[in-house]
Amino acid sequence: MKLLQHGYSVNTTIRPQSLSSGSKKDISYLKNLPGAQERLQVFPADLENPDSFEAAIEGCIGVFHLAHPIDFQGKETEEMITNKSIRATLGILEACLKAKTVKRVVYTSSAFTVMFNNEGPDIVVDENSWTDVDYVRNANYFGASYSISKTLTERAALEFAEKHSLDLVSVIPTWINGPFICPSIPGSVTGSLAMILGKENQVQYFKSNPFVHIDDVASAHIFLFEYPEAKGRYICCAVEITMDKLYEFLCARYPEFKILSPESLDDKTVKFSSKKLLDTGFRYKYGLGEIFDQAIECCRQKGFL
Ligand SMILES: NC(=O)c1ccc[n+]([C@@H]2O[C@H](COP(=O)([O-])OP(=O)(O)OC[C@H]3O[C@@H](n4cnc5c(N)ncnc54)[C@H](OP(=O)(O)O)[C@@H]3O)[C@@H](O)[C@H]2O)c1
Repeated sequence: MKLLQHGYSVNTTIRPQSLSSGSKKDISYLKNLPGAQERLQVFPADLENPDSFEAAIEGCIGVFHLAHPIDFQGKETEEMITNKSIRATLGILEACLKAKTVKRVVYTSSAFTVMFNNEGPDIVVDENSWTDVDYVRNANYFGASYSISKTLTERAALEFAEKHSLDLVSVIPTWINGPFICPSIPGSVTGSLAMILGKENQVQYFKSNPFVHIDDVASAHIFLFEYPEAKGRYICCAVEITMDKLYEFLCARYPEFKILSPESLDDKTVKFSSKKLLDTGFRYKYGLGEIFDQAIECCRQKGFL
């Protein structure tokens, strides 16, 4: 949506089964976007078959790679997820080289690639920080396979880009929240609003919680695609708040809801430095109040609240 608003012609991908006739997946929210009829093409592609991305990439000047096999339920082993993700990402990067038109790839990484290590209890992470995958594996952290697969995939992507002189920039968003255009409620919005939407005794947050509005994340991706000097990794984090302060904030701002008491997943304070992104001139538009107001309003409009 944001790329269309910026005037770009966009090829996007969707899993083949979601495009087949009889599929229950409703993608009218994409096809009805302003400008979509003239400038949006939807291609079938699956991470299980990396070559399937070639048709969508052909002729493009930029590629934004966001898809990741996210599995917080542990349906597949960490090894299966990591292998699938690395194979798919490197296949997509191969397709970018093959296309010969791609000027820059913007890869969507995650805060989980920088925040987990044996240091603490209070740490500041920046673009030089990397999650220690052995530590995560041994500590069996929440979302361990996600954290490990994202970390190893981002490392593999950066190495591939270096080796093949491919211009690749990596965006490291923290916890994304805000309004959504898809019909179902995104996982990170459900998680962010767990104190409102969740069930008693199942509401878990980290001790410190770094948020960013979806609109700012999308803008940062496009900004970094267009910014000539962009290089390497960029943390994208607008606001940070401890779990206890978030509870107080939600109770005060939304007295109409019964706000559930959260439990902490850890006892560490992790601060995210956004200095590198801010030094480029990029500015966040949304603070904590707008992030939560707009997520809640969108949930209300779509009948989730
Ligand atoms: N949300 C956050 O707070 C957050 C924070 C930091 C980074 N990120 C990153 O942002 C990206 C998007 O995440 P999200 O939060 O929007 O989660 P999501 O909705 O689950 O997005 C994952 C996407 O990957 C696609 N995908 C998964 N397996 C696939 C496969 N085999 N073939 C093709 N596509 C496949 C999914 O397609 P289906 O819809 O068909 O399943 C979905 O569109 C991810 O790279 C994630 O690591 C998210």
